[in-house]
Amino acid sequence: MLNTVNPRQTVLVTCRAKYNNFGKDEIKDNIIALDWHIPLSFKPLMYGISAGKTRFSCELISRSKCFAVNFMSIDFQKEVLFCGRHTGRHMDKFTEAGLTKKDCDKIDCARIKEALAYIECEVVDEIDTGDHVLFIGKVAASALLNQGKRIFHIVGDDFTTTVD
Ligand SMILES: Cc1cc2nc3c(=O)[nH]c(=O)nc-3n(C[C@H](O)[C@H](O)[C@H](O)COP(=O)(O)O)c2cc1C
Repeated sequence: MLNTVNPRQTVLVTCRAKYNNFGKDEIKDNIIALDWHIPLSFKPLMYGISAGKTRFSCELISRSKCFAVNFMSIDFQKEVLFCGRHTGRHMDKFTEAGLTKKDCDKIDCARIKEALAYIECEVVDEIDTGDHVLFIGKVAASALLNQGKRIFHIVGDDFTTTVD
């Protein structure tokens, strides 16, 4: 099916939640690469993301009930692939991918400083769609910071962008 719906814009979704790491409670910030995301409504402003149930981020978002969608430029292929090929369960993906944490404006979550644009969401519903969960987010804040060529996923490790 993927060859029928791709290319799709790949985003980096950030999340933060309390997490029990080998018996010790800590606040965990994480990043997941996502192709499956969608605007859902203007009034109220709503945005949806679909996360696989096995993803660590799915667990964190279920717990914290918020997430940020970070729109990246094609220059960040390496970082996007890193976040899409490694779980953050036992590593700090911000550090490992070399991305900079910035506190969100309206939700208790980090976003990515290098992003061209971002949307902050509070989860108002979760729909079990099969092996994924569709998180329905009410938009709490959003901003377009910079114009730039966005990253779109074709398949595997291949990405593309828009023409001038
Ligand atoms: C380009 C790309 C797009 C992806 N899109 C999705 C997606 O839409 N939904 C999803 O659940 N996983 C997607 N993944 C896979 C997750 O990013 C990957 O499983 C990641 O390691 C999960 O990290 P986590 O365990 O720290 O949450 C994608 C991976 C790549 C490379």
